[in-house]
Amino acid sequence: MSISTNTAGLAGIVAGQTALSTVGKEGAGLTYRGYSIEDLAEHAIFEEVAWLLLYGELPKQLELDAFLARLQSQRDLPAQLKAVLAQLPESAHPMDVLRTACSALGCLEPEHSAADQFRVAERLLAIFPSALAYWHHFARSGNRIDTESPEPTMAGHFLHLLHGVQPSAEHRRALDASFTLYAEHEFNASTFAARVTASTLSDMYSAITSGIGTLRGPLHGGANEQAMELIERFTDPDHAEQGVLTALSRKEKIMGFGHRVYRDRDPRSDVIKEWSRRLSQAAGDAQLFAISERIEQVLRREKKLFPNLDFYAASAYRFLGIPTLLFTPLFVFARTAGWAAHVIEQRADNRLIRPTADYIGPSTRPFRPIVQR
Ligand code: COA
Repeated sequence: MSISTNTAGLAGIVAGQTALSTVGKEGAGLTYRGYSIEDLAEHAIFEEVAWLLLYGELPKQLELDAFLARLQSQRDLPAQLKAVLAQLPESAHPMDVLRTACSALGCLEPEHSAADQFRVAERLLAIFPSALAYWHHFARSGNRIDTESPEPTMAGHFLHLLHGVQPSAEHRRALDASFTLYAEHEFNASTFAARVTASTLSDMYSAITSGIGTLRGPLHGGANEQAMELIERFTDPDHAEQGVLTALSRKEKIMGFGHRVYRDRDPRSDVIKEWSRRLSQAAGDAQLFAISERIEQVLRREKKLFPNLDFYAASAYRFLGIPTLLFTPLFVFARTAGWAAHVIEQRADNRLIRPTADYIGPSTRPFRPIVQR
């Protein structure tokens, strides 16, 4: 079958099966293994969600306790990884740092066989926040931080390492909810990239490295950074309205809006928007949230476009004191659960993913040696 221009970018193509999530399915919306995203973001912690994705069911209390303890015990960085991170300049993009950390760990602690896959998945979940925080502090101040913290969850641990103090319960919970929202999303570009890599029978680290590289772009995970840059350009809602109208008149894309699969709303956006509102009120900030809402109104009015998860995640993360360049890496921390679960699912019923292309180049022609050209 050939791909027409209507299906460019594989839009609308069913490229495989998954038991992990439904995205925008009639009557289901966004679910992870049958549980609605709204219920999970409200009632579960991210580690319960990660367990659900990796192991198929929500954990019992003893399983969750053991999982949290295992992750906590694996946050430490090997000395060689610290040495690699210390070589990376302050100017490096933090996504490149995480991609490098993943790849380097694959050399230090390789996956020996597919039987090793859960160990590697858990190690990556545990180590990414530590690796990023270690590089972040070292590159800026030369300070080699201790990557242990008393925080049982990934959200608390990262905020603790980033700010050097115990986070508030509300900040911990807000970041945790965002991790749940970011954890999984069917055959999005980075997950598909990870599955393609896994389908060649490559290792988990290579698959996750592919995922990170794919997530980095502004049409995918990088949108949350660009959304923040846009919001911060404006001093008040009227200024934002003018700026967005000008950008639209120049046919510029507004990052954090629109979606390949959702048609009229991204259910994750409603949840993160509420967190952004709560955090803005707690911070006593009158402008950032109001500017964001005005941008949303203008995009709906002018283009019938709706915010995706990345738009209000940007302001929520700003209220948590997270630097903009670290926004997409936070997406990596969470999506590692989804990527790893997809790799495991791909391996369980693998067939090499290798589509074909319509050839549009020159017709067959005779080769002439260089002296005759
Ligand atoms: N701002 C302005 N216009 C947008 C837009 C946006 N964020 N998203 C889509 N559009 C417009 C396109 O310009 C295009 O208009 P046209 O038909 O007049 O040319 C139309 O809507 C279709 O967009 P297209 O990019 O072809 O849709 P897609 O399905 O290929 O892309 C996205 C989906 C997500 C890549 C796209 O909406 C986008 O680039 N959004 C911004 C990046 C982003 O937030 N990514 C995170 C996704 S979770």
